Amino acid sequence: MSNPTNPLKAVRGTRDLLPPDSALWNHVEAIARSVFARYGFGEIRTPIFEDTQLFARGVGEETDIVSKEMYTWEDRARAQSEKAQSLTLRPENTAGVVRAYIEHKLGDSGQLQKLYYIGPQFRRERPQRGRYRQFWQIGVEVLGPTSSGAESPLRDAEILEMLATLLDELGVKGWQLALNSVGSSEDRKRYNAALREALAPIKHQMCEDNQRRAETNPLRVLDSKEPNDQALIDGLPKIADYLDDSSREHFAQVRAALDACGVAYTVNPRLVRGLDYYTRTTFEFTVPDGSGLGTQNALLGGGRYDGLSEMLGGPKAPGIGFAIGEDRLILTLQAQAEAAGGSAAEKKLDAYIAPMGVERNAAALALARELRRAGLSVEVGDGSFRLKKSFEAADRVARHIIILGEDEVKSGILTVKSFATGEQVKIASTEIASRFGTENQ
Ligand code: HAM
Repeated sequence: MSNPTNPLKAVRGTRDLLPPDSALWNHVEAIARSVFARYGFGEIRTPIFEDTQLFARGVGEETDIVSKEMYTWEDRARAQSEKAQSLTLRPENTAGVVRAYIEHKLGDSGQLQKLYYIGPQFRRERPQRGRYRQFWQIGVEVLGPTSSGAESPLRDAEILEMLATLLDELGVKGWQLALNSVGSSEDRKRYNAALREALAPIKHQMCEDNQRRAETNPLRVLDSKEPNDQALIDGLPKIADYLDDSSREHFAQVRAALDACGVAYTVNPRLVRGLDYYTRTTFEFTVPDGSGLGTQNALLGGGRYDGLSEMLGGPKAPGIGFAIGEDRLILTLQAQAEAAGGSAAEKKLDAYIAPMGVERNAAALALARELRRAGLSVEVGDGSFRLKKSFEAADRVARHIIILGEDEVKSGILTVKSFATGEQVKIASTEIASRFGTENQ
């Protein structure tokens, strides 16, 4: 039973996005959509929840995401004909996209599929700044049959170049791209064996988590942040020494194409990422300390997953993709705008209509209707406000105030004041839309 003295709150790790911040979210999403369209991507929307098996098989049973962080429940059968089923809120969207690719036989067209998504994901992590239990991703997946060129290093370079363009267009400052190749699944097997062997005599000197990882998933030791273990980790074998010729050549071509485009990167041999489906290229974009993310400085991550479709029972469909943490992107834009002395979300309305006296309220609404239909953004005050209060309210939300008194209603000539210039002019109501329209351009 609800207790009226103890109001309900959003669940820990979830949050409400309110105006004016939500305008920045929409702005970021609009820019992303426009960049993706220029690169030939179409939008895919997959369900928020899926069969638990999809993530167990796709992301990997041993990963932190699947073993600790998923929101999973037993969905009861409601009729004799239905079976109970284990369902999970999607912790990420790549597995869902590949499931949809298989289910809708998108590979049959022989074409490369270039898909993007924007939506919430769910992970039961310990909440902190930049890390939430419901968070948003803006992601992209490029996949198709081998004959479509899906395996080409050009595809890797193209999406990395697209990310550089997107972050620049959004105005993210100081981003850095770290790149690695984790090789084919065969390379990974050999590397895993080498890691296990190298870890065996030293793991007892490491933290408990790393001791466990050394047993269950030695690759995970590489992305440990435990300060005391760093020297030992730096001394471990490097994946670059275990790549076969074709993976090595593939990685060289990705780097050559990035060099040709002028996209800067550093190779980080420890970048293995926390999902099991990766093969060959893996990458992360980070922002410098002080960009509003605290310790969560990975803005986005991604990589190639040439075997994922087959792991999910589908045809061979090599692919590569990324997901941007939209929450982190927004925090970065806000912090960087603040550091530069501005606000990232500020966008004022064209006009605020101030009726003088409640008798003018109806006329104010009619004028607002006219201007809004002509494409202007307009707020309407209330005739009970004193002039001073109207000016204060208008200055907060709009670039102009339109004063609507008895004379103005009768004559149709309005008094308009610009807050930017302080200039006050008389304009016929019929001309306002075109006058503001030119200012907006
Ligand atoms: P991921 O590295 O698990 O990769 O997540 C991508 C990004 O999502 C992270 O870099 C981070 O910005 C954001 N993120 C992850 N967890 C949280 C959280 N709890 N709160 C806020 N932001 C978070 C993937 O999800 C892969 N599906 C990416 C991919 C697409 N790989 C290939 N295609």
